[in-house]
Amino acid sequence: MRTVSGIQPTGNLHLGNYLGAIRNWVRMQDAMEESGGECFFFLADLHAISQYQDPAELRRGIREMAAALIACGVDPARSTLFRQRDVPAHSELAWLLNGTARVGWLNRMTQFKDKSGKNREGASVALYTYPVLQAADVLLYQATHVPVGDDQKQHLELARDIAIKFNTDYAVELFTLPEPIIPPAAARIMSLRDGAAKMSKSDASDMSRINLADDPDLITQKIRKAKTDPEPLPDDPGLLDGRPEARNLVTIYSALADEPVKDVLARFAGQGFGAFKPALAELTVEKLRPIGARFAELQQDPAELDRLLKLGAEKANRVAAPTLGGAYAALGL
Ligand code: TRP
Repeated sequence: MRTVSGIQPTGNLHLGNYLGAIRNWVRMQDAMEESGGECFFFLADLHAISQYQDPAELRRGIREMAAALIACGVDPARSTLFRQRDVPAHSELAWLLNGTARVGWLNRMTQFKDKSGKNREGASVALYTYPVLQAADVLLYQATHVPVGDDQKQHLELARDIAIKFNTDYAVELFTLPEPIIPPAAARIMSLRDGAAKMSKSDASDMSRINLADDPDLITQKIRKAKTDPEPLPDDPGLLDGRPEARNLVTIYSALADEPVKDVLARFAGQGFGAFKPALAELTVEKLRPIGARFAELQQDPAELDRLLKLGAEKANRVAAPTLGGAYAALGL
């Protein structure tokens, strides 16, 4: 069993990202270890350039994301952690798979439609063929499990279609069919200022998000000032409908405490935010303290980060080589 997943290193180092993708990787790392499998996690820096990135920002973002992943518990000693760019087999296999993927398949990808919007003609070719690179990312390592958010499920189905067609067209059993692993209730964390908007690094107000590097005072202040409503907390999760800000704070509590929403409500039902917010602040500070500390430490040691990523890339290159070789051979190249 092998888990493979990627994340774009274009910053988003806030609580929403931690409780969404990153924490899920750490759980996969533990689960794989228990069942004798292994994990390959990478920074999808080649995917990042499918939209314009300022080069200096991208360079910074790559180190920052690597530091955040390690700080959150992705352990380079137990998982293979690397940059996509350091393993040329990703680009090479993507090109080979461009021969198998069909234009009709890519035309159905909703992410391309969303990201290109009204300016389809002006979108980069990389944005269009992005899912083929993603297929290469996972097929290269014979991934069995691919943890992704709901929005990436279609790309994974495409990877399976490409694998089936390649294996069939060239009469080989080269590629393993990967299964998407979609976390049951990937906590959707919303802005602290607007319960209808996702927590995001692009929000103009820093008060709308909790960053992994925020200190305890700032975290407490942000939660104290978070938008809420005057009602006390209900005892039934259904009664949070129509109360997006209240729901968001309860969701954050539930995700951090790793406790179902209904259990959190059972404890706080009838209490107002005057009581709930300090409890939430305390919990958030406690959970983020070790992460923030390690994050700061790693960011001050770029040489160490580069060393860890290089080690990961060496292993990834080794593991990728036979599959890439198999693909060239199958094609007659
Ligand atoms: N497209 C994914 C995202 O934006 C990132 C990604 C790139 C990925 N390659 C991958 C995820 C391979 C899983 C497997 O979230």
